[in-house]
Amino acid sequence: MSYTCPVCGFQKLTEPPRSLTGGGSSEICPSCGYQHGVDDDDKGRSHAAARDEWKRGGMKWQSKSAPPKNWKPAEQLAAVLPRDGAKVIALTGCTRGCGRALAEFFTAQGQVVIGCGRSEKHIAELRSKFGPPHDFTALDVADDEAVHRWAERITVTHGAPDLLINNAAVIAPNAPLWKVPVAEISATLNVNIAGTVNTIRHFVPAMAGRGGVIVNFSSGWGRGTSPDVAIYCATKWAVEGLTQALAQELPHGLAAVALNPGIIDTEMLRSCFGSGAVNHPKPDEWAERAGPFLLALTAKDNGRSLDVPGA
Ligand SMILES: NC(=O)c1ccc[n+]([C@@H]2O[C@H](COP(=O)([O-])OP(=O)(O)OC[C@H]3O[C@@H](n4cnc5c(N)ncnc54)[C@H](OP(=O)(O)O)[C@@H]3O)[C@@H](O)[C@H]2O)c1
Repeated sequence: MSYTCPVCGFQKLTEPPRSLTGGGSSEICPSCGYQHGVDDDDKGRSHAAARDEWKRGGMKWQSKSAPPKNWKPAEQLAAVLPRDGAKVIALTGCTRGCGRALAEFFTAQGQVVIGCGRSEKHIAELRSKFGPPHDFTALDVADDEAVHRWAERITVTHGAPDLLINNAAVIAPNAPLWKVPVAEISATLNVNIAGTVNTIRHFVPAMAGRGGVIVNFSSGWGRGTSPDVAIYCATKWAVEGLTQALAQELPHGLAAVALNPGIIDTEMLRSCFGSGAVNHPKPDEWAERAGPFLLALTAKDNGRSLDVPGA
């Protein structure tokens, strides 16, 4: 049994990293030099921060003992990112929150991320941080024509995605349904439902020839309800129904699943949970569970309503 380093994506750790077990390993990753367990506890920095350091080539061997003679981090970095067999992952809403954390996780793993979000500023940051073969585009998923152009271009430059993750969504400020402004209602319907439909319509024809998985982000509020978030609940119940029907339509080799990510401390959660959001996992911590789970999905999962482990 071998384990994946959550910092650099090296796949041959002999012990499970502490982040997966809550205890145990203090193994030093022989690829990036990060010391699991010890670094996590003593230095208080996140895996995402350590990953940034490693990718900049700034990671030091994290132990007083000398590194092994064959420790060549620059060569190992080049070997891991990008690598043959990387999945092409189309990811909506990659500028903040869960989507951003997934983009960081997947790039560190050597996968190729094709991301979008509306914020030009955040897209520019992602572009300068992750150059080709990654690709980041500022667009609104509710704009069918923009999604069409995006899918058409990506299919030419990168081929059909192996994984299409419909993560982008919005939530209206908490209020009883009859008090929610009509503009907020339209935006929630347009992004959460039509946005998901748009990417499916424009990527599936290319994916159909070669297989792949479509993951539509649902919610606990796609399977249950609460007051003051009715329109958001309606969109996530729609995502569940849409996914079930789509699963029955897809050609052999493709899968559609609905995914409840769990509860994560993001801007969206702060909007609906207020200060209570801080009691929930941070996106980078969550992505270490969600990322491997997403990468392991196959055509056999078609039609399932899933939860990120630990959600
Ligand atoms: N956080 C939770 O606890 C939780 C729980 C259950 C389900 N979820 C679901 O998990 C997913 C991620 O949520 P989150 O908490 O990470 O939300 P978030 O922090 O608000 O981030 C949402 C992301 O979607 C993007 N986005 C919003 N509208 C868009 C549009 N029209 N076109 C393109 N991108 C758009 C945003 O970027 P721009 O503003 O740059 O466009 C941002 O990158 C959502 O589907 C959400 O419903 C979250």
